[in-house]
Amino acid sequence: AVLRRMLSLHDFEDAARRRLPRPIFGYIAGAAEDNASLRDNREVFGEYAFTTRVLRDVSQRSQAVELFGERYSSPFGIAPMGINALSTYRGDLVLARAAQRAGIVSVMSGTSLIPMEDVARASPGTWFQAYLPGDQARVDALIDRVERAGFRTLVVTVDIPISANRENNIRTGFSTPLRPGLRLAWDGLVRPRWVAGTFLRTLLHHGMPHFENSFATRGAPIVSSSVLRDFSARDHLSWNHLEAIRRRWKGPLVVKGLLSVDDALQARNLGADGVVLSNHGGRQLDGVVSAMRVLEAVVAAVGPAFPVLIDGGFRRGSDVLKAIALGARMVLVGRPFNYAAAVAGEAGVQHAIGLLRDEVDRNLAMLGATACTDLGPGHIVRRHG
Ligand code: FNR
Repeated sequence: AVLRRMLSLHDFEDAARRRLPRPIFGYIAGAAEDNASLRDNREVFGEYAFTTRVLRDVSQRSQAVELFGERYSSPFGIAPMGINALSTYRGDLVLARAAQRAGIVSVMSGTSLIPMEDVARASPGTWFQAYLPGDQARVDALIDRVERAGFRTLVVTVDIPISANRENNIRTGFSTPLRPGLRLAWDGLVRPRWVAGTFLRTLLHHGMPHFENSFATRGAPIVSSSVLRDFSARDHLSWNHLEAIRRRWKGPLVVKGLLSVDDALQARNLGADGVVLSNHGGRQLDGVVSAMRVLEAVVAAVGPAFPVLIDGGFRRGSDVLKAIALGARMVLVGRPFNYAAAVAGEAGVQHAIGLLRDEVDRNLAMLGATACTDLGPGHIVRRHG
């Protein structure tokens, strides 16, 4: 019933706010410091407007795209998000299953709380996203495990050399593990559905949530000194580590978290199969550009044969098609799918996918296009600059 009131991806945010404890909702919705990059991720779309082509026969349309030899039914997919399993029971499985059913990409986070093998088994097409552990032996062990689990596509996220300043987590009382206290007790009282459906169910079946896939250390408590050490051990990672991964990982390799032409060229020249332009949903360096602002320059530099993916603030079919017209191969969407899972589990995610898919479909027709490949920079006018 609640899904009938979800008419666009935006609607899931308020619905999730009502369902999730404040610290968890705050962790998902929030970003870094003054949220400048988070805001820019939305505002940037206002700077591009479409030009349409009329009187084309658009009765036969498809929004399907091909990437790394696979055909996906839509030009958008689900971005990796850690701790999806705090939004809904076994959240990573929920998202992966919904994506699989819809035929779209979904990326499982390396900081998820359920074992990667479970997700690979349930949804073999899922991509795996890794953060690099500090030393090469553990990088190798992680990659071997991802391969054994059966994942085909590996995404390496490179925009977290150190953790960002996310004050809002402290302000809303977010911590891992969640500390029992008055605030959380109150939150639980007013959100019994989350307590029973997500939290207690997780505790009963799995015990206190653990990081199951990070840094190749299976089953590390959400915060332990060893995990913290690993986070701080990443500030010396370099392109040499990426080169070593390229040698070891035989499947498609995607580097996520780039925002410059130089880095995109570097990734391509080291043998990566694609990049995701991203400012991590505004959650890392506040004040960094929105990925949309560098898309055209990166596509021009790396050439049309090299897949450039993008994320950050995509909420509408029109947002998706603006990026596609400017040369992106695929768009990833984060928070709304997490909220949709919190609101109504797999049905919620399916509904969200359907909404965005319908928007893309209608917009293609109104643009005068029958496929994503019909779109180009000629369909876009810049409003400023
Ligand atoms: C993220 N993101 C992220 N990225 C990544 O590579 N690994 C991760 O584990 C996470 N975790 C994560 C948790 C949460 C709660 C959020 C909101 C985001 C970043 C994510 O993949 C993506 O880049 C952005 O979320 C995209 O922006 P939107 O669509 O959320 O605006």
